Amino acid sequence: VTGTLRVAGSEVRIGALGAGLERLAAHRGPLPLISDARVLGLHGGPLLDRLPVEPLLVPEGEEAKRWPVLEALLHGLARLDPARDTPVLLLGGGSIGDVGGLAASLFKRGCPTVFIPTTLLAQADSAVGGKTGIDFADLKNLVGTFHPPTLVLADPSLLATLPARELHAGYAEVVKYGLIDDPDFFAWCEADGASVPAGHLPNTEFAVRHGLAAKGRAVEGDERDRSGQRALLNLGHSFAHAIEAEAGLGRVLHGEAVAIGLVLAHRLSARLGLCPPADSARVERHLASVGLPVRLADVGVSGTPLLAPMRADKKNEGGGLNLVLSHGIGRAFLARGVPVDAVASFLAEA
Ligand SMILES: NC(=O)c1ccc[n+]([C@@H]2O[C@H](COP(=O)([O-])OP(=O)(O)OC[C@H]3O[C@@H](n4cnc5c(N)ncnc54)[C@H](O)[C@@H]3O)[C@@H](O)[C@H]2O)c1
Ligand SMILES: [Zn+2]
Repeated sequence: VTGTLRVAGSEVRIGALGAGLERLAAHRGPLPLISDARVLGLHGGPLLDRLPVEPLLVPEGEEAKRWPVLEALLHGLARLDPARDTPVLLLGGGSIGDVGGLAASLFKRGCPTVFIPTTLLAQADSAVGGKTGIDFADLKNLVGTFHPPTLVLADPSLLATLPARELHAGYAEVVKYGLIDDPDFFAWCEADGASVPAGHLPNTEFAVRHGLAAKGRAVEGDERDRSGQRALLNLGHSFAHAIEAEAGLGRVLHGEAVAIGLVLAHRLSARLGLCPPADSARVERHLASVGLPVRLADVGVSGTPLLAPMRADKKNEGGGLNLVLSHGIGRAFLARGVPVDAVASFLAEA
């Protein structure tokens, strides 16, 4: 099944890669191709065979999102010297999209990118919305730009080679879209969602399409994340980014930290009397049932040290914390100025 949608400045094609690659055949090259060795080995074949690509390789995973890697990519682009309207191809997961997109947005003040996401997380979420970035000063995504890909080619069959742990991590971001504002989709997750990390292709395509469309709705009109409209996409993420930083960036996968963050956001909401405890329990039960971590102890992190990175979050303003909390399944909202004390005592017990 192939379908094209427009999401937040990007044209998105969901389906087999072949047709999408034909669109790129008109470029004479060299076409820079940013990827990592594993992904290039598994899925680079059709690109290397059919297009005048020049691979620029980065380390796998979160290790790619570092300043020296960004610098090396910029040297690589300078060496290849593509024309400014030549697209930079990004083949890989969210880490490749983040650092490669940042490099492309800086080079010659911005080259177009074509993103071929190869993880569930990237296909269902990170490929659209335009955020690029690297980790800096021990904080996630502290440095970055807005630079949406012109074209996203999402082929769910590429996920067949993804390790189970990565598939599950990506699934946490899929569930997030149900929890934000779509209780029916969360109910679908409870009933059929486990088939997605288990590799069921039609359900995976459904989940990818659903995630991309939901993200598109959230981003449309607030492409630069200024009005607060995009804020709900951050459900679970204030906790998640702190967990990732505390565990050591790259140790806990982003999606695993998001799973715990989703549970903590609902438990804190329940504790503040905002969310029915039964809904909070449902969130935890579903994520745990597919094998995702749901408690800090599951990843060897304790609660109190999370407060400092949460207070340093770039989304806070004034005294308290700005957190996405929930009134129940599918009823997330932005809570401004949540008292630090309340969060501190919650974390101490979490
Ligand atoms: N920009 C955004 O809007 C946004 C949104 C969500 C997450 N992110 C970021 O994305 C990053 C996480 O990305 P991710 O979860 O996609 O993982 P990733 O890009 O870090 O890749 C994880 C691992 O999977 C491997 N891999 C990728 N595709 C594969 C395939 N098809 N088969 C086998 N192995 C494969 C990679 O080599 C790597 O080792 C985090 O840094 C997170 O902060 C960004
Ligand atoms: Zn995320």
